[in-house]
Amino acid sequence: MLGEQVDKVHSVGISYEPVRTGDAAEFAAFLASEPWPFHSGGVVDVADVARRVAAGAYFDDAVRTHWIVVDGRRCGFVRAFDLDDGTPLFDLRLAAGCRGRGLGRAAVGWLVGDLFGLLPEINRIEGTTRNDNLAMRAVFRACGFVKEAHYREAWPGSDGRLHDTIGYGILRRDWLSQSITPVDWAG
Ligand SMILES: CC(C)(COP(=O)(O)OP(=O)(O)OC[C@H]1O[C@@H](n2cnc3c(N)ncnc32)[C@H](O)[C@@H]1OP(=O)(O)O)[C@@H](O)C(=O)NCCC(=O)NCCS
Repeated sequence: MLGEQVDKVHSVGISYEPVRTGDAAEFAAFLASEPWPFHSGGVVDVADVARRVAAGAYFDDAVRTHWIVVDGRRCGFVRAFDLDDGTPLFDLRLAAGCRGRGLGRAAVGWLVGDLFGLLPEINRIEGTTRNDNLAMRAVFRACGFVKEAHYREAWPGSDGRLHDTIGYGILRRDWLSQSITPVDWAG
């Protein structure tokens, strides 16, 4: 079921289901099912991931992980973390067969609304990606995130090459007004 080809995406067909402790084995299998070239960390330790999911480490007061489900298929997940730290961050991963059909954009749009609704005290949400992850950068832009940082040679690739890291953020007021507050680079 994981990673099966998804031919088209209608937002009505997408749902977001919490990754619960009982999903430990399936979640770990999903992470191990393919390489993730834009993530550091090397080979996935399936047993360790399964142990941590089973212990509730992927869904608690500080972390919320949701399956991205399309027509009953678990296509990927979005994991928001640092929820207790003022500014949440997130990770997003889709199986290869589910990419390039607007799911990433839909998931980030959903996540932003979910977090701003759930956490009235937060003013912003942040994310980072590698400079050559063009799909993720397009998703950030499409969802109203603004490029706020460019860290040179900050992201080690699996081949040892150093890539630049790009930082994005979205403000609550921009999300509410569907507008963009530019960065004051001269300030
Ligand atoms: C990055 C990722 C979440 C994007 O989700 P997606 O559903 O594939 O992206 P979408 O279909 O919403 O497309 C977003 C945009 O990226 C563009 N895009 C997709 N693949 C691309 C590529 N290889 N190169 C350039 N642009 C690309 C699309 O054309 C679209 O542009 P548009 O908004 O101008 O139409 C998904 O590809 C993925 O899970 N990749 C592997 C894990 C990963 O890199 N996660 C991000 C970690 S920070």
